[in-house]
Amino acid sequence: MSVKIHATNAPTPLETKVHPVERKVFLAGPKQDEENLKKILDFIHEYKGLDLSSYRQNFLYRRLRLRIFSTKAKGYFEYINLLKNSPEEYNNFLDALSINVTEFFRDPDVFEAVEKVVLPQLIARKEARGNLSLRVWSSACASGEEPYSLAILIRQSLEKKIAFLVKIWASDIDRHALEKAKKAEYPAQELKNIDSKIIKKYFISCGDNCYRPSDEIRQMVKFQVHNIFQRFPFRCLDLIFCRNLLIYLDRRRSKELFHTFSQLLNPGGYLVLGKVETLWDRGLFVPLNLRTKIYQKVD
Ligand SMILES: C[S@@+](CC[C@H](N)C(=O)[O-])C[C@H]1O[C@@H](n2cnc3c(N)ncnc32)[C@H](O)[C@@H]1O
Repeated sequence: MSVKIHATNAPTPLETKVHPVERKVFLAGPKQDEENLKKILDFIHEYKGLDLSSYRQNFLYRRLRLRIFSTKAKGYFEYINLLKNSPEEYNNFLDALSINVTEFFRDPDVFEAVEKVVLPQLIARKEARGNLSLRVWSSACASGEEPYSLAILIRQSLEKKIAFLVKIWASDIDRHALEKAKKAEYPAQELKNIDSKIIKKYFISCGDNCYRPSDEIRQMVKFQVHNIFQRFPFRCLDLIFCRNLLIYLDRRRSKELFHTFSQLLNPGGYLVLGKVETLWDRGLFVPLNLRTKIYQKVD
């Protein structure tokens, strides 16, 4: 799948031409609703490089109809024109898919379960085997809040165990989101759900109402552009976070990912999904905590 999730600021030369897709959309009329919505998605794929073909159709159509309604576009042709000429509307469309939405310690109960159950089990197992390393992947990390939250939890859990070697790989298909993640400057408002003790210990001020994770935390996370459907170069992982990406995928593509995750994880390794996401393939993992969608690889 070639997904490119970012808005260009100005229409490219190609975008200023009238595309046959647009003409068809215009002529087809509102009765062929689904067909027209599909044509808008084709247009987005061709001109913006965003291939949403693996994403759930009903979800996409619902969001698209909502955008058309909100913009008061009179039909699909007009909406395509809007997408062509207004980078702002393209951004609104992406926002409507909540493609990049994230936050520090998103769903605090999930991070609490990782801190209280997953990390202690994992660390104890590693110590018993004399393998003092933790290998973690945040596989759709958006602008970095998720892997930095994980780094903080791991640093806390390993406070006195300095011999442990920790690697956190964080990847996303969206280059722009990753640039933000590497820059790591977050408005104070984005830290509103974080305990003040944690902020004091693991964040530094970087200007007016702006904070960044401390050097110690930032050095723990290695960012890279990566499409989750392509081969991931690191194996023998202990913990994979894949949160709030599967909601956009159909069942077949999600199942493919569960197989990949199972192959990349060590025996007994953990997989954490988004709270509204479903593990379709029950043979590969057992639930550790169903409410928080934490699963453990079957050995
Ligand atoms: C809603 S965000 C989730 C961020 C974070 N995991 C969380 O739960 O807060 C979804 C992320 O998935 C990324 N994404 C979408 N398709 C992807 C793909 N094929 N490979 C890697 N990342 C992808 C998007 O760029 C976006 O940053």
